[in-house]
Amino acid sequence: MILCLISAVQAIQGNAVFYGPPPYLPSACYGNQRNGIMVAGVSDALWQNGRACGKRYRVKCIGGANKAPHPCKNGRTVVVKVVDYCKAGCQGIINLSRDAFSTIADPDAGIVRVELNEIRV
Ligand SMILES: *[C@@H]1O[C@H](CO)[C@@H](O)[C@H](O)[C@H]1NC(C)=O
Repeated sequence: MILCLISAVQAIQGNAVFYGPPPYLPSACYGNQRNGIMVAGVSDALWQNGRACGKRYRVKCIGGANKAPHPCKNGRTVVVKVVDYCKAGCQGIINLSRDAFSTIADPDAGIVRVELNEIRV
């Protein structure tokens, strides 16, 4: 219960875009080292000069960011690892791998609103 309250307080909302296809390399954090396909880049709001590298976020699609109909896949969430920097001009707070984006939303929408919760271990 307390954990739920904490994670609710720390939820961050913003837009998510995506990139790809795999292998999502090279990355700003890890160069050519592979980190799987559930990865993401974060924009200045979260990047913290690279301290964001390796953080994990649970990402939930919460609505559309454009006119695309039914962009969210209902109630789905995906956990991604931060491996990259989405530089100035990034159209979202997070730039998901195509695999991660398509797990929670329709890629045809291109951009959706999301809620992020950092997973602390
Ligand atoms: C998403 O990340 C990729 C790889 O770093 C980058 O090429 C692309 O420009 C980013 N998308 C946006 C909207 O910034």
